[in-house]
Amino acid sequence: MNILITGGAGYIGSHTCVALLERGYDVIVADNFVNSDPVVLQRIREITGRDFHSYEIDVTDAEAVERLFQAYKIDGVIHFAGLKAVGESVQKPLEYYRNNLLSTIVLADNCIRYGVGKFVFSSSATVYGDQEVPLAESMPLRGTTNPYGETKAMSERILTDTARAHPKLAVSLLRYFNPVGAHESGLIGESPRGIPNNLMPYITQVAKGKLAKLYVYGDDYPTVDGTGVRDYIHVVDLAEGHVAALERLEEGVHVYNLGTGQGTSVLQLVKTFEQVNGIKIPYEIVGRRPGDVAESYADVSKAWRELGWSAKRGIDEMCRDAWRYEVNHSDE
Ligand code: NAD
Ligand code: UD1
Repeated sequence: MNILITGGAGYIGSHTCVALLERGYDVIVADNFVNSDPVVLQRIREITGRDFHSYEIDVTDAEAVERLFQAYKIDGVIHFAGLKAVGESVQKPLEYYRNNLLSTIVLADNCIRYGVGKFVFSSSATVYGDQEVPLAESMPLRGTTNPYGETKAMSERILTDTARAHPKLAVSLLRYFNPVGAHESGLIGESPRGIPNNLMPYITQVAKGKLAKLYVYGDDYPTVDGTGVRDYIHVVDLAEGHVAALERLEEGVHVYNLGTGQGTSVLQLVKTFEQVNGIKIPYEIVGRRPGDVAESYADVSKAWRELGWSAKRGIDEMCRDAWRYEVNHSDE
Protein backbone atom coordinates (compact mmCIF):
# COMPACT_ATOMS: atom_id res chain seq x y z
CA MET A 1 0.00 0.00 0.00
CA ASN A 2 1.37 3.43 -1.01
CA ILE A 3 0.38 6.22 1.35
CA LEU A 4 1.04 9.83 0.40
CA ILE A 5 1.97 11.79 3.52
CA THR A 6 1.84 15.54 3.08
CA GLY A 7 3.79 17.39 5.77
CA GLY A 8 5.62 14.15 6.55
CA ALA A 9 8.74 15.99 7.79
CA GLY A 10 6.69 17.86 10.41
CA TYR A 11 6.10 16.99 14.04
CA ILE A 12 3.07 14.69 13.79
CA GLY A 13 3.73 13.62 10.19
CA SER A 14 7.21 12.30 10.99
CA HIS A 15 5.93 10.14 13.86
CA THR A 16 3.14 8.85 11.64
CA CYS A 17 5.65 7.96 8.89
CA VAL A 18 7.51 5.87 11.48
CA ALA A 19 4.30 4.11 12.57
CA LEU A 20 3.28 3.36 8.97
CA LEU A 21 6.73 2.17 7.87
CA GLU A 22 6.95 -0.10 10.91
CA ARG A 23 3.57 -1.52 9.97
CA GLY A 24 4.81 -2.37 6.46
CA TYR A 25 3.27 0.48 4.46
CA ASP A 26 5.21 2.31 1.76
CA VAL A 27 5.10 6.05 2.25
CA ILE A 28 5.72 8.92 -0.13
CA VAL A 29 6.41 12.21 1.65
CA ALA A 30 5.55 15.60 0.13
CA ASP A 31 6.75 18.58 2.14
CA ASN A 32 8.02 22.06 1.27
CA PHE A 33 9.91 22.33 4.59
CA VAL A 34 8.30 25.65 5.42
CA ASN A 35 8.19 24.51 9.05
CA SER A 36 10.52 21.51 9.13
CA ASP A 37 13.98 20.31 8.20
CA PRO A 38 14.77 17.65 5.57
CA VAL A 39 17.13 15.99 8.08
CA VAL A 40 13.99 14.62 9.78
CA LEU A 41 13.46 12.32 6.79
CA GLN A 42 16.90 10.81 7.38
CA ARG A 43 16.02 10.25 11.03
CA ILE A 44 12.81 8.43 10.05
CA ARG A 45 14.96 6.13 7.90
CA GLU A 46 17.35 5.64 10.81
CA ILE A 47 14.58 4.72 13.26
CA THR A 48 12.76 2.33 10.93
CA GLY A 49 15.64 0.97 8.85
CA ARG A 50 13.44 1.55 5.80
CA ASP A 51 13.78 3.81 2.80
CA PHE A 52 11.00 5.80 1.13
CA HIS A 53 10.50 8.45 -1.53
CA SER A 54 10.27 12.11 -0.56
CA TYR A 55 9.63 15.25 -2.60
CA GLU A 56 10.10 18.91 -1.90
CA ILE A 57 6.70 20.04 -3.09
CA ASP A 58 4.25 22.74 -2.11
CA VAL A 59 0.98 20.82 -1.99
CA THR A 60 -0.99 23.87 -3.09
CA ASP A 61 0.85 23.49 -6.45
CA ALA A 62 -1.71 21.52 -8.46
CA GLU A 63 0.70 20.52 -11.23
CA ALA A 64 3.39 19.27 -8.87
CA VAL A 65 0.82 17.28 -6.88
CA GLU A 66 -0.68 15.78 -10.03
CA ARG A 67 2.76 14.57 -11.12
CA LEU A 68 2.92 12.54 -7.89
CA PHE A 69 -0.48 10.97 -8.51
CA GLN A 70 0.68 10.08 -12.04
CA ALA A 71 3.97 8.60 -10.86
CA TYR A 72 2.58 6.38 -8.09
CA LYS A 73 -0.41 4.16 -7.56
CA ILE A 74 -1.50 5.93 -4.37
CA ASP A 75 -3.86 4.02 -2.09
CA GLY A 76 -4.41 6.67 0.55
CA VAL A 77 -3.52 10.23 1.53
CA ILE A 78 -2.82 11.56 5.01
CA HIS A 79 -2.87 15.32 4.81
CA PHE A 80 -0.79 16.93 7.59
CA ALA A 81 0.66 19.82 5.57
CA GLY A 82 -0.57 23.12 6.88
CA LEU A 83 0.33 26.25 8.75
CA LYS A 84 -0.62 26.02 12.42
CA ALA A 85 0.34 29.12 14.43
CA VAL A 86 -2.86 30.62 15.81
CA GLY A 87 -1.48 34.13 16.43
CA GLU A 88 0.22 34.29 13.03
CA SER A 89 -3.05 33.27 11.37
CA VAL A 90 -4.70 36.40 12.81
CA GLN A 91 -1.90 38.54 11.31
CA LYS A 92 -1.76 36.72 7.97
CA PRO A 93 -5.24 35.32 7.34
CA LEU A 94 -4.91 35.02 3.56
CA GLU A 95 -1.70 33.03 3.85
CA TYR A 96 -3.48 30.59 6.16
CA TYR A 97 -6.63 30.29 4.06
CA ARG A 98 -4.61 29.91 0.87
CA ASN A 99 -2.21 27.30 2.21
CA ASN A 100 -4.57 25.22 4.33
CA LEU A 101 -7.63 25.28 2.07
CA LEU A 102 -5.96 25.11 -1.33
CA SER A 103 -3.83 22.14 -0.27
CA THR A 104 -6.97 20.27 0.82
CA ILE A 105 -8.77 21.08 -2.44
CA VAL A 106 -5.82 20.11 -4.66
CA LEU A 107 -5.33 16.79 -2.87
CA ALA A 108 -9.04 15.86 -2.80
CA ASP A 109 -9.34 16.73 -6.50
CA ASN A 110 -6.45 14.43 -7.37
CA CYS A 111 -7.89 11.64 -5.21
CA ILE A 112 -11.10 11.76 -7.23
CA ARG A 113 -9.40 11.95 -10.61
CA TYR A 114 -6.93 9.15 -9.82
CA GLY A 115 -9.37 6.88 -7.97
CA VAL A 116 -7.74 7.12 -4.53
CA GLY A 117 -10.19 5.78 -1.95
CA LYS A 118 -8.86 6.98 1.42
CA PHE A 119 -8.27 10.47 2.75
CA VAL A 120 -7.26 11.12 6.36
CA PHE A 121 -7.24 14.74 7.49
CA SER A 122 -5.48 16.52 10.39
CA SER A 123 -8.20 18.49 12.11
CA SER A 124 -8.17 19.99 15.58
CA ALA A 125 -10.25 20.07 18.74
CA THR A 126 -10.30 23.83 18.20
CA VAL A 127 -13.27 23.31 15.82
CA TYR A 128 -15.52 22.62 18.83
CA GLY A 129 -15.15 26.17 20.12
CA ASP A 130 -16.04 26.84 23.74
CA GLN A 131 -18.47 24.22 25.03
CA GLU A 132 -19.12 21.67 27.78
CA VAL A 133 -16.47 18.99 28.30
CA PRO A 134 -15.97 16.18 27.47
CA LEU A 135 -16.13 17.15 23.80
CA ALA A 136 -17.86 14.55 21.64
CA GLU A 137 -17.96 14.19 17.87
CA SER A 138 -21.76 14.46 17.91
CA MET A 139 -21.64 18.04 19.23
CA PRO A 140 -22.35 20.90 16.84
CA LEU A 141 -19.35 23.08 16.01
CA ARG A 142 -19.55 26.43 17.78
CA GLY A 143 -17.19 28.46 15.60
CA THR A 144 -13.53 29.14 16.23
CA THR A 145 -11.81 32.35 17.32
CA ASN A 146 -9.13 32.61 14.63
CA PRO A 147 -8.39 31.98 10.92
CA TYR A 148 -6.31 28.87 11.70
CA GLY A 149 -9.28 27.24 13.40
CA GLU A 150 -11.55 28.29 10.56
CA THR A 151 -9.29 26.56 8.01
CA LYS A 152 -9.79 23.33 9.95
CA ALA A 153 -13.58 23.68 10.13
CA MET A 154 -13.71 24.66 6.44
CA SER A 155 -11.45 21.80 5.35
CA GLU A 156 -13.71 19.39 7.25
CA ARG A 157 -16.67 20.82 5.34
CA ILE A 158 -14.91 20.69 1.96
CA LEU A 159 -13.95 17.05 2.48
CA THR A 160 -17.41 16.12 3.78
CA ASP A 161 -19.16 17.62 0.76
CA THR A 162 -16.62 16.04 -1.60
CA ALA A 163 -17.04 12.56 -0.12
CA ARG A 164 -20.82 12.88 -0.34
CA ALA A 165 -20.60 13.74 -4.02
CA HIS A 166 -17.95 11.07 -4.69
CA PRO A 167 -18.78 8.06 -2.51
CA LYS A 168 -15.67 6.16 -3.63
CA LEU A 169 -13.63 8.60 -1.55
CA ALA A 170 -13.79 7.67 2.15
CA VAL A 171 -12.75 10.43 4.54
CA SER A 172 -11.56 10.36 8.13
CA LEU A 173 -11.48 13.69 9.98
CA LEU A 174 -9.19 13.39 13.00
CA ARG A 175 -9.60 16.03 15.67
CA TYR A 176 -6.38 16.14 17.65
CA PHE A 177 -6.33 17.38 21.21
CA ASN A 178 -2.89 18.52 22.46
CA PRO A 179 -0.06 16.48 20.94
CA VAL A 180 3.15 16.52 23.01
CA GLY A 181 6.21 14.32 23.60
CA ALA A 182 8.51 12.72 21.08
CA HIS A 183 9.68 9.37 19.73
CA GLU A 184 11.48 7.40 22.44
CA SER A 185 14.65 7.27 20.32
CA GLY A 186 15.02 11.02 20.88
CA LEU A 187 15.66 11.38 17.14
CA ILE A 188 12.43 13.11 16.11
CA GLY A 189 10.19 15.50 18.02
CA GLU A 190 8.82 19.00 18.04
CA SER A 191 11.16 21.81 16.96
CA PRO A 192 9.21 25.07 16.99
CA ARG A 193 10.86 28.05 15.34
CA GLY A 194 11.30 31.08 17.57
CA ILE A 195 9.60 31.35 20.95
CA PRO A 196 7.09 28.50 21.32
CA ASN A 197 3.38 29.29 21.57
CA ASN A 198 2.44 25.95 23.09
CA LEU A 199 2.95 24.87 26.66
CA MET A 200 5.15 21.76 26.46
CA PRO A 201 7.82 23.18 24.13
CA TYR A 202 7.86 26.31 26.27
CA ILE A 203 8.47 24.19 29.39
CA THR A 204 11.29 22.20 27.75
CA GLN A 205 13.00 25.43 26.67
CA VAL A 206 12.75 26.81 30.20
CA ALA A 207 14.21 23.53 31.48
CA LYS A 208 17.09 23.89 29.00
CA GLY A 209 17.74 27.46 30.16
CA LYS A 210 16.85 28.98 26.78
CA LEU A 211 13.92 30.84 28.36
CA ALA A 212 14.02 32.26 31.87
CA LYS A 213 10.59 31.23 33.14
CA LEU A 214 7.17 30.02 32.14
CA TYR A 215 4.28 32.50 32.08
CA VAL A 216 1.13 30.71 33.21
CA TYR A 217 -1.83 32.29 31.43
CA GLY A 218 -4.40 32.69 34.18
CA ASP A 219 -5.10 30.97 37.49
CA ASP A 220 -8.71 32.07 37.85
CA TYR A 221 -10.44 29.56 35.57
CA PRO A 222 -13.11 27.31 37.10
CA THR A 223 -10.75 24.31 37.05
CA VAL A 224 -9.03 22.06 39.60
CA ASP A 225 -6.33 24.68 40.44
CA GLY A 226 -7.49 27.67 38.39
CA THR A 227 -5.13 27.05 35.45
CA GLY A 228 -6.23 25.87 31.99
CA VAL A 229 -6.99 22.18 31.52
CA ARG A 230 -6.11 20.30 28.32
CA ASP A 231 -6.08 16.76 27.01
CA TYR A 232 -2.39 16.12 26.26
CA ILE A 233 -1.73 13.14 24.02
CA HIS A 234 1.63 11.49 23.34
CA VAL A 235 2.54 12.02 19.68
CA VAL A 236 3.35 8.32 19.23
CA ASP A 237 -0.17 7.40 20.40
CA LEU A 238 -1.49 9.99 17.98
CA ALA A 239 0.57 8.46 15.16
CA GLU A 240 -0.85 5.03 15.97
CA GLY A 241 -4.33 6.57 15.84
CA HIS A 242 -3.66 7.47 12.20
CA VAL A 243 -2.72 3.90 11.35
CA ALA A 244 -5.95 2.68 12.98
CA ALA A 245 -8.01 5.33 11.17
CA LEU A 246 -6.48 4.39 7.82
CA GLU A 247 -6.94 0.67 8.33
CA ARG A 248 -10.57 0.91 9.42
CA LEU A 249 -11.55 3.57 6.89
CA GLU A 250 -14.64 2.59 4.94
CA GLU A 251 -17.10 4.45 2.75
CA GLY A 252 -18.41 7.77 4.03
CA VAL A 253 -17.14 10.52 6.30
CA HIS A 254 -16.01 9.67 9.81
CA VAL A 255 -15.00 12.05 12.57
CA TYR A 256 -12.82 10.97 15.50
CA ASN A 257 -11.40 12.69 18.53
CA LEU A 258 -7.81 11.66 19.16
CA GLY A 259 -7.05 12.41 22.79
CA THR A 260 -6.70 10.51 26.05
CA GLY A 261 -9.96 11.64 27.67
CA GLN A 262 -7.96 12.96 30.66
CA GLY A 263 -7.68 16.63 31.52
CA THR A 264 -4.41 18.02 32.97
CA SER A 265 -3.95 21.56 34.25
CA VAL A 266 -0.96 23.77 33.43
CA LEU A 267 0.39 23.44 36.96
CA GLN A 268 -0.18 19.68 37.03
CA LEU A 269 1.87 19.38 33.84
CA VAL A 270 4.62 21.57 35.27
CA LYS A 271 4.76 19.49 38.49
CA THR A 272 4.87 16.21 36.57
CA PHE A 273 7.66 17.52 34.32
CA GLU A 274 9.64 18.57 37.40
CA GLN A 275 9.19 15.20 39.10
CA VAL A 276 9.89 13.00 36.10
CA ASN A 277 12.95 14.91 34.91
CA GLY A 278 14.26 16.27 38.21
CA ILE A 279 14.34 19.88 36.95
CA LYS A 280 12.72 22.93 38.51
CA ILE A 281 10.56 25.04 36.18
CA PRO A 282 10.32 28.64 37.41
CA TYR A 283 6.98 30.19 36.56
CA GLU A 284 4.91 33.32 37.02
CA ILE A 285 1.15 33.62 36.89
CA VAL A 286 0.04 36.28 34.41
CA GLY A 287 -3.29 37.23 32.80
CA ARG A 288 -5.38 34.95 30.62
CA ARG A 289 -4.42 34.52 26.94
CA PRO A 290 -7.17 35.84 24.64
CA GLY A 291 -9.05 33.05 22.88
CA ASP A 292 -8.22 30.38 25.50
CA VAL A 293 -10.91 28.11 26.90
CA ALA A 294 -10.87 26.94 30.53
CA GLU A 295 -11.09 23.23 29.82
CA SER A 296 -10.77 21.03 26.78
CA TYR A 297 -10.72 17.26 26.84
CA ALA A 298 -12.11 14.55 24.67
CA ASP A 299 -14.79 11.94 24.84
CA VAL A 300 -12.66 9.20 23.32
CA SER A 301 -15.24 6.43 23.27
CA LYS A 302 -15.97 6.61 19.54
CA ALA A 303 -12.34 6.07 18.50
CA TRP A 304 -12.16 3.06 20.80
CA ARG A 305 -15.49 1.63 19.64
CA GLU A 306 -14.95 2.10 15.91
CA LEU A 307 -11.16 2.10 15.48
CA GLY A 308 -10.15 -0.16 18.36
CA TRP A 309 -7.63 2.55 19.27
CA SER A 310 -6.93 4.29 22.54
CA ALA A 311 -3.96 6.24 23.87
CA LYS A 312 -1.60 4.17 26.03
CA ARG A 313 1.05 6.62 27.18
CA GLY A 314 0.59 8.87 30.21
CA ILE A 315 1.72 12.35 31.20
CA ASP A 316 4.95 10.96 32.71
CA GLU A 317 6.06 9.52 29.38
CA MET A 318 5.05 12.67 27.55
CA CYS A 319 7.24 14.79 29.87
CA ARG A 320 10.16 12.35 29.76
CA ASP A 321 10.17 12.00 25.98
CA ALA A 322 9.68 15.72 25.30
CA TRP A 323 12.68 16.46 27.50
CA ARG A 324 14.86 13.74 25.95
CA TYR A 325 14.28 15.26 22.50
CA GLU A 326 15.00 18.78 23.75
CA VAL A 327 18.28 17.61 25.29
CA ASN A 328 19.33 15.81 22.10
CA HIS A 329 18.28 18.25 19.42
CA SER A 330 17.48 21.69 20.66
CA ASP A 331 20.72 23.26 19.50
CA GLU A 332 20.24 22.41 15.82
P1 NAD B 1 4.29 20.96 11.60
O1 NAD B 1 4.37 22.39 11.22
O2 NAD B 1 5.37 20.36 12.40
O3 NAD B 1 4.10 20.06 10.29
C1 NAD B 1 3.46 20.52 9.13
C2 NAD B 1 4.35 20.17 7.95
O4 NAD B 1 3.69 20.60 6.76
C3 NAD B 1 5.71 20.88 8.00
O5 NAD B 1 6.72 19.94 7.72
C4 NAD B 1 5.61 21.93 6.90
O6 NAD B 1 6.87 22.19 6.31
C5 NAD B 1 4.63 21.27 5.93
N1 NAD B 1 3.86 22.18 5.07
C6 NAD B 1 3.13 23.26 5.43
N2 NAD B 1 2.54 23.81 4.35
C7 NAD B 1 2.91 23.04 3.27
C8 NAD B 1 2.62 23.08 1.89
N3 NAD B 1 1.84 24.01 1.35
N4 NAD B 1 3.17 22.13 1.10
C9 NAD B 1 3.96 21.17 1.61
N5 NAD B 1 4.26 21.08 2.91
C10 NAD B 1 3.75 22.01 3.74
O7 NAD B 1 2.87 20.75 12.31
P2 NAD B 1 2.31 19.49 13.11
O8 NAD B 1 2.22 19.86 14.53
O9 NAD B 1 3.00 18.26 12.70
O10 NAD B 1 0.82 19.48 12.55
C11 NAD B 1 0.41 18.67 11.46
C12 NAD B 1 -1.03 18.97 11.14
O11 NAD B 1 -1.82 18.73 12.29
C13 NAD B 1 -1.29 20.42 10.74
O12 NAD B 1 -2.27 20.44 9.72
C14 NAD B 1 -1.82 21.03 12.01
O13 NAD B 1 -2.65 22.13 11.77
C15 NAD B 1 -2.61 19.88 12.60
N6 NAD B 1 -2.77 19.97 14.05
C16 NAD B 1 -1.67 20.12 14.85
C17 NAD B 1 -1.84 20.24 16.22
C18 NAD B 1 -0.65 20.43 17.14
O14 NAD B 1 -0.85 20.78 18.29
N7 NAD B 1 0.57 20.18 16.71
C19 NAD B 1 -3.12 20.20 16.78
C20 NAD B 1 -4.21 20.04 15.94
C21 NAD B 1 -4.02 19.92 14.56
C1 UD1 C 1 -3.44 26.08 21.14
C2 UD1 C 1 -4.30 26.84 20.16
C3 UD1 C 1 -5.19 25.85 19.42
C4 UD1 C 1 -4.33 24.79 18.74
C5 UD1 C 1 -3.46 24.10 19.79
C6 UD1 C 1 -2.54 23.08 19.22
C7 UD1 C 1 -4.67 29.10 21.11
C8 UD1 C 1 -5.68 30.02 21.72
N1 UD1 C 1 -5.11 27.84 20.86
O1 UD1 C 1 -4.30 25.38 21.99
O2 UD1 C 1 -5.98 26.51 18.44
O3 UD1 C 1 -5.14 23.83 18.09
O4 UD1 C 1 -2.67 25.11 20.46
O5 UD1 C 1 -1.50 23.66 18.52
O6 UD1 C 1 -3.53 29.47 20.83
N2 UD1 C 1 -0.15 28.06 28.47
C9 UD1 C 1 0.51 28.81 29.42
N3 UD1 C 1 1.72 29.37 29.10
C10 UD1 C 1 2.29 29.22 27.87
C11 UD1 C 1 1.60 28.44 26.89
C12 UD1 C 1 0.39 27.89 27.24
O7 UD1 C 1 0.03 28.97 30.55
O8 UD1 C 1 3.38 29.76 27.61
C13 UD1 C 1 -1.42 27.43 28.85
C14 UD1 C 1 -2.61 27.85 27.99
O9 UD1 C 1 -3.24 28.97 28.52
C15 UD1 C 1 -3.47 26.58 28.03
C16 UD1 C 1 -2.45 25.44 28.13
O10 UD1 C 1 -1.26 26.03 28.62
O11 UD1 C 1 -4.27 26.56 29.18
C17 UD1 C 1 -2.15 24.78 26.78
O12 UD1 C 1 -1.80 25.78 25.83
P1 UD1 C 1 -1.30 25.40 24.36
O13 UD1 C 1 -0.22 24.40 24.44
O14 UD1 C 1 -1.00 26.68 23.65
O15 UD1 C 1 -2.56 24.68 23.70
P2 UD1 C 1 -4.08 25.17 23.53
O16 UD1 C 1 -4.33 26.44 24.22
O17 UD1 C 1 -4.95 24.03 23.88
